[in-house]
Amino acid sequence: MEVITTHTTADFDSLASMLAAKKLYPDALLVFPGSQERSLRDFFIHSTLYAFEVERIKNINLRDVERLILVDTRQQSRIGKFAEIVGPDVDIHIYDHHLPSSEDIHGSLEVISEVGATVTLLVNIIRERGVEITPDEATVMMLGLYEDTGNLSFSSVTEEDFKAAGYLLRKGADLNVISNMITRELTAEQVFLLNDLIQSATRYHIHGIEVVIAQASADHYIGDIAVLAHKLKDMENLDVLFVLVLMEDRVHLIGRSRIDEVNAAEIAAEFGGGGHPTASSATIRGMTLLVAHDRLVKLLQEMVRPRRTARDLMVYPVKVISADCPIEEAGEILTRYNLTGLPVVQGEKVAGVISKQIVERAIHHGLKTSPVKEYMSTEFATVGPETPFSRIQELMIGQNQRLVPVLESDHLVGTISLGNLMGVLQEDMMRSVKGAAALESQPLYARKKMISKLIQERLPDRIQSLLMEFGKVGDELGFSVHAVGGFVRDLLMRVENFDVDIVVEGDGIQFAEEFEKRVPCRIRTHRKFGTAIILFPDGSKVDVATARLEVYDSPAALPTVESGSIKMDLYRRDFTINALAFQLNPRGFGELTDFFGGIKDIKERVIRVLHNLSFVEDPTRVFRAIRFEQRLGFQIAKHTQNLMRNAVKMGFAARLSGGRVLAELILILQEDDPVSAVKRMRDFDLLRFLHPNLKFTEETEALFERIHHVLSWFDYLFLEEEYERWLIYFYGLIDLLKEEEVAEVCQRLSMNEKEKTRIIEGKKQAEQILLQVFAWISSDYTPKRSEIYTVLGALSTETKLFMMAKTTQMATRRYISLYFTQLKDAKPLLKGADLIRLGIQPGPAIKRNLANLLKARLDEQLMTREDEMAFLVRSLEMSNGRT
Ligand code: CTP
Repeated sequence: MEVITTHTTADFDSLASMLAAKKLYPDALLVFPGSQERSLRDFFIHSTLYAFEVERIKNINLRDVERLILVDTRQQSRIGKFAEIVGPDVDIHIYDHHLPSSEDIHGSLEVISEVGATVTLLVNIIRERGVEITPDEATVMMLGLYEDTGNLSFSSVTEEDFKAAGYLLRKGADLNVISNMITRELTAEQVFLLNDLIQSATRYHIHGIEVVIAQASADHYIGDIAVLAHKLKDMENLDVLFVLVLMEDRVHLIGRSRIDEVNAAEIAAEFGGGGHPTASSATIRGMTLLVAHDRLVKLLQEMVRPRRTARDLMVYPVKVISADCPIEEAGEILTRYNLTGLPVVQGEKVAGVISKQIVERAIHHGLKTSPVKEYMSTEFATVGPETPFSRIQELMIGQNQRLVPVLESDHLVGTISLGNLMGVLQEDMMRSVKGAAALESQPLYARKKMISKLIQERLPDRIQSLLMEFGKVGDELGFSVHAVGGFVRDLLMRVENFDVDIVVEGDGIQFAEEFEKRVPCRIRTHRKFGTAIILFPDGSKVDVATARLEVYDSPAALPTVESGSIKMDLYRRDFTINALAFQLNPRGFGELTDFFGGIKDIKERVIRVLHNLSFVEDPTRVFRAIRFEQRLGFQIAKHTQNLMRNAVKMGFAARLSGGRVLAELILILQEDDPVSAVKRMRDFDLLRFLHPNLKFTEETEALFERIHHVLSWFDYLFLEEEYERWLIYFYGLIDLLKEEEVAEVCQRLSMNEKEKTRIIEGKKQAEQILLQVFAWISSDYTPKRSEIYTVLGALSTETKLFMMAKTTQMATRRYISLYFTQLKDAKPLLKGADLIRLGIQPGPAIKRNLANLLKARLDEQLMTREDEMAFLVRSLEMSNGRT
């Protein structure tokens, strides 16, 4: 017969250990040597939890005992009647955590270690051997572990105890039962503190893991906050809890975690504390509660280990398509197997990925016979089977990669589609919703980026109240309203831009009409497109667009904040950095929506399209990419560059009207310093669309640099003066072309006759006048100021500025400068009426005399009004003399 026993006045650890030992010695009888502790007796009375098969000692014939298994003791005096049989005839196995004593029994097997509870030793053996235990058994074992370790808070607690506790939890130990069983008296102030902690408890979802942070402060030291943390954790059945309590001048941190994904010790270590993965603490000096809290959240975001890996998400075997196969074949596979994307292979290698959306659109654009490799994404990430969930989530949602190939030693072993990912997110969401019920009254923060502070800091009050008003009108009509596009991009980049664009999920026109009733403004609507422009009295305007409330088909189950229509609206946009939006409705005012990794691209300074057909759908984006790249000092992403080259190669510009190309070209040339953008156009072979002979040579580049200088000078001196900046660069761009070639460029850009004449004549005039001025200089002729005025006055400001940049002659530049600074605004002091008073007939004579006056004034012959009068009288006398 085998008997498992323990010490007299058995406690929960004894019971738990006996039960655990029974799992290792299934044939052994459980026998208490004597009485039990009261609490244990009560437990037996009240517990319906577990039916123990305990044999009474009086029913046992001690002589039949061949093996005695002692748990939680090895002291002879503590095992009651069993002490009688201790000797060579009985095999003794010992499991104990007590310190050695002089009366220790020795056994053939001794598992003795100073852990927090004996049950720990047994549980760890159970775990190692893979012996199955039920949730009820796990609960009883955990009860023992808790009781003997002061809810795992005594200094005797070791990592082994936590391991055992963790294992028991995994096996279903019910902490609610345990907390009901183990009651500890709290002082009044502890109760108050606990109450504060409960009130402040806030749930965070970090990498799919729920973490609760509770905080409170007390004006003097209160002991045992670890016990409070325990209480809270048990009451709410929390996996991970961090408690921050400010007492006197320090913040005390208590960390509790019963899941592997959160290591409480690591977090505490960051605050200079320590402990075990499941229980830790730190005393933080020199930090406010708020600072400590923010740092904790940040650390958790960095340190919480993701729950799942690629292996859990991937599907296999994998369907693939060869890079050289036509798009339509990819379409067939996708449809046949109902897939949302395919890895593209070249030989053994995964060369790219292609999504159903792209395939469908390519077919729609008549590209079904193009090889898949033309439109596949080559800039894609792969993962290994052990890649964590968070990374996959980041790739698929953050970076918009819809299909992730899983490679193991370079072999494709699976794929993860957005659908797979969504399934898991959905599960997480359901779990958190269930959990939320337990913490009803407490705030719940998901990981949402709020930019309300930025809005407050960066936008003028007028714009802020406008945005809020939009939100209110949205609420009233039941529409969700977002600010979108360049306005959001520039706000995040802290670049001044008050050109507000908004998107209404509902009816943009109805929205604008409602807005007009409340705020002084006028609206212009375009019913066909569902757009409206709101015009304000100060001349500013806001564009309103409609995102139709269409149901966003699979993958639909995106987390709560995401609403299909705004997502679709943003998906149609050009670049990730322009596809950001923030909410204007009061309940979520300032909440940023970033479906496509725009924030990351702003941070990394990258221009990236949202999908591979972006340039096919709107070829002007090729120019836009270049413009933004240069303006913002960003880089066009490699894959996006490939798509641009491909679009150019496919003759994209043929599909663009001259007007659109001109509009884009003007925008590029209108930028501050367009040299690099035009060079980039050259690199992408875009100049040939303007004219096959158009080159951007070093000479042109030097000319552009000089234009830049001249314009800076001009802008500095003549702030108010309006001119068309782009035109001067345009003259620079076509400078080396012949007249008939220039005419062809104008033709290509669909310029009207007036524009065309302006370009051709402007260029011709500039060349002629430069020659004339050159002739003056080379013949040492010093022109009169009035002569300069006449020659240059006939030209447009743009032509003059271009000449100033084009010439390498200092003297020419000086003449033009003289014209702008001294001659251009010169006027006679006398007016027409003065001349009439002097007896000059109204009509051409007035004009002629005024012109003469001006000429003399330009040549510095006249200074005062009297000089002018005298000049007039003289010329009148002369002409009278002549007649
Ligand atoms: N847009 C687009 N594709 C285009 C033009 C515009 O997707 N071919 C979208 C972008 O989201 C862009 C928004 O429409 O942000 C507004 O366009 P626009 O005013 O031309 O650009 P901004 O981004 O505001 O740039 P800018 O600062 O030059 O005005």
